[in-house]
Amino acid sequence: EPRFASFKLVLLGESAVGKSSIVHRFVKNTFDDMRESTIGAAFLTQTISLPEVNTTIKFEIWDTAGQERYKSLAPMYYRNANAALCVYDITSKASFAKAQDWIKELNRQAPEGIVVALVGNKADLVDERQVDEADVESYLQDLRAQRGESAGDVIHLECSAKSGDGVLDIFNSIAQALPLE
Ligand code: GTP
Ligand code: MG
Repeated sequence: EPRFASFKLVLLGESAVGKSSIVHRFVKNTFDDMRESTIGAAFLTQTISLPEVNTTIKFEIWDTAGQERYKSLAPMYYRNANAALCVYDITSKASFAKAQDWIKELNRQAPEGIVVALVGNKADLVDERQVDEADVESYLQDLRAQRGESAGDVIHLECSAKSGDGVLDIFNSIAQALPLE
């Protein structure tokens, strides 16, 4: 018979990389060019169906605020998360460094077995690209060397919240990686 599973998901990353925009694209299929910076955190839910395993998944999504002053709140949200999206903006090397910091923190503090996705947003701004696939690949190789093969499980995808390209793929990939009993 049909099964139902519910998972907690958290978005982390520097302010303005587009965390809220990704969530709004996924949950409401809308995009706002003038989105306001998140205060504290926002909570949204969305369900997806996985017909091949006859399962519906409900994502309980915590969209955290990237501004530095909210940094100390993050552990409250990732502490009991099943999956974390560490988001950077492909036009900002600094935001990619920040996403790596989040992965480091998750490795140390997050629950064992948390599904981690490294997400490069604003893929529509190819002309301003600062973070190349090669940069990401060499980072993922270093990560693998540090923590063993399990780092190979880090999902890496690019998307554009603006065009919508790649957004569903991220949540589908996370769903595939989650433990369904
Ligand atoms: P905080 O809430 O401060 O942590 O920021 P955030 O990561 O939630 O960023 P937000 O979604 O508010 O987006 C910041 C700005 O980037 C907004 O003006 C968005 O319109 C813009 N933006 C978000 N995603 C994209 C994208 O895929 N492409 C382009 N071109 N702009 C984007
Ligand atoms: Mg936000």
